[in-house]
Amino acid sequence: MNEVYEKLQGCLKSVREKTDFKPEIALVLGSGLGEYAEEIEVAAAIDYKDIEGFPVSTVPGHKGRFIFGYVNGVPVVIMQGRVHFYEGYPMSDVVLPARLMGLMGAKILFLTNASGGINGTFHAGDFMLIRDHIATFVPSPLIGANIDELGPRFPDMSDIYRRELRDIIKETAKEEGIELKEGVYLQLTGPSYESPSEVSMCRTLGADAVGMSTACEAVAANHMGMAVCGISCITNMACGISKEPLSHTEVQETADRVAPLFKRLITASVTKLAGR
Ligand code: 6GU
Repeated sequence: MNEVYEKLQGCLKSVREKTDFKPEIALVLGSGLGEYAEEIEVAAAIDYKDIEGFPVSTVPGHKGRFIFGYVNGVPVVIMQGRVHFYEGYPMSDVVLPARLMGLMGAKILFLTNASGGINGTFHAGDFMLIRDHIATFVPSPLIGANIDELGPRFPDMSDIYRRELRDIIKETAKEEGIELKEGVYLQLTGPSYESPSEVSMCRTLGADAVGMSTACEAVAANHMGMAVCGISCITNMACGISKEPLSHTEVQETADRVAPLFKRLITASVTKLAGR
């Protein structure tokens, strides 16, 4: 068996020894957004460190566990904290959790992150629905022998962030009276923030926001047939667009500030997505 797939199956077995919970929607909570998990009706929780072979994050502010539970009766699995490529893990490990949630039964992968705003009409604290991404600055998680059990060698990527899901989230935001921008997310490796020239490059390439996660997970999930959607919290404007130097503290502070709105948007969206 393919060794990446073998590791994935090992993790699935490890999870199944602890819970047989079957999620409908998988949620990944980004930097500073992790406390959402405390809002839900919890059925079970598993620390990443208790899953054999599972990559464990090292970033302050990132917790490391799966929470299984219900959002308005919808069975969900929530990743409270993710691993990033800049931590030194191979891409196959970075996307392992997303794939694992797919194998647990989740049909939808709902990705969230903190990102830097590049579109000049954005402001810190805005939410951006991800319409599409640019993932070509990080290695593809699909490099290596194809895992035929999951999907094809050359998967189509024309509708990664499914239009159907985006329409539902836009409608939800409108009903909730929450302003929702829409745009293209560009993933870079980090861990440094971009230089002003790198930010102009991103802008030239058509990006609206830049970050260090998400796109690779979306590629892996789309490969295995999951329907993906994502919301980026613009925690700060990218370098050169903002006059202030960037700091992880600012990212956390903005995420904290908009957390109540974010929670409302996620809860309402999950409820509507499940009923679609
Ligand atoms: Cl400005 N850049 C990147 N790469 N990631 C971020 C960010 C900026 N702000 C939050 N996350």
